[in-house]
Amino acid sequence: MSAAVVCPGSFDPVTCGHVDVFARAAARFDHVVVAVLENPQKQSTFSIEERMALIEAETAGIDNLEVTRFSGLLVDFCDERGVHVVCKGLRAVQDFEYEVQMAQMNRHIGGVETVFLPSSPEHAFVSSSLVKEVVRGGRSVDGLVSERVAEALRRRLG
Ligand code: PNS
Repeated sequence: MSAAVVCPGSFDPVTCGHVDVFARAAARFDHVVVAVLENPQKQSTFSIEERMALIEAETAGIDNLEVTRFSGLLVDFCDERGVHVVCKGLRAVQDFEYEVQMAQMNRHIGGVETVFLPSSPEHAFVSSSLVKEVVRGGRSVDGLVSERVAEALRRRLG
């Protein structure tokens, strides 16, 4: 496979599961655009700048990857960038219904095709929201997020 792909998400914050998907996408596409959703309606733990900075730090070793932001519809961002393939990780059945619905909608309204990568087994249970719950409870998130992200979470959530 070649050409470019968009990896969209909230990434609040980026987990090892996300980084695994970015790296696998980067190995199969010429260029990866990580697109961080800026959604003023949704309260996030980290600002858009903080989320982008964490992803940039975590992906510094991936040369064919850039981190940017978008707001509004993903298909409009894809049009602006001239990239009409999206790549997302799929953990298990809990992701399937919503992700497929979104993929079908994006194809319907914007001709944007979605490629799913099954999550690596060691990340199948990792989500940003669960990681935050674990940090709030004072337990270790080793192996689920990087030490940099864990430290940012501890500072933010105590
Ligand atoms: O990190 P997430 O929650 O899996 O990311 C979801 C995201 C950002 C990919 C999705 O919510 C999105 O694309 N939002 C932008 C609005 C949009 O295009 N919605 C889908 C079609 S109606």
